[in-house]
Amino acid sequence: MSLILDLHDAEATQTLGFQLGQLLVPGSNLLLNGDLGAGKTTFVQGLGRGLGIAEGIDSPTFTLLNEYLQGRVPLYHFDLYRLDPSEVAGLNPELYWEGIEVSPGIVAIEWAEKLPYSPPEFLILELSHRDDSRQAQFFAKGKQSLQMLEAIAECL
Ligand SMILES: Nc1ncnc2c1ncn2[C@@H]1O[C@H](COP(=O)(O)OP(=O)(O)OP(=O)(O)O)[C@@H](O)[C@H]1O
Ligand SMILES: [Mg+2]
Repeated sequence: MSLILDLHDAEATQTLGFQLGQLLVPGSNLLLNGDLGAGKTTFVQGLGRGLGIAEGIDSPTFTLLNEYLQGRVPLYHFDLYRLDPSEVAGLNPELYWEGIEVSPGIVAIEWAEKLPYSPPEFLILELSHRDDSRQAQFFAKGKQSLQMLEAIAECL
């Protein structure tokens, strides 16, 4: 199953994030793919608001990872743009999606193409330009992620 949505403006991207912020459960992994400027950070800003995180969310391009612990569920926001897959392994992203050494939360990863290995379950959000319009397409890997995607499709 995949789900395709049109995103007419930046607010639509934020709203999509906000809606997911209200739906996603701890242990959700969101792999965010799309070209430079496709709207990945904009989506995560909405996600943070949907989780009830008051602090503004910026791109973690230079910090690589920002943690937000004050919302309904922890949010771990990665931006892998500046890294090679071998360097990404050094960040031990699995500690976040396993939720063993940190509280289980939502892991949102910009430039997830750079992951050298993937979480066992995940949703992919592919942000793209087609002609003049922007689109979001979701894919699910794993049984729980598929159920989550079905729930998202019902709510949007
Ligand atoms: N659906 C949309 N339609 C038009 N503009 C949008 C849309 N979504 C986001 N934008 C705008 O696109 C610009 C880039 O967005 P953003 O920084 O979120 O992209 P990004 O994918 O995180 O980029 P990067 O690859 O640099 O991390 C911002 O000015 C944002 O407001
Ligand atoms: Mg970004």
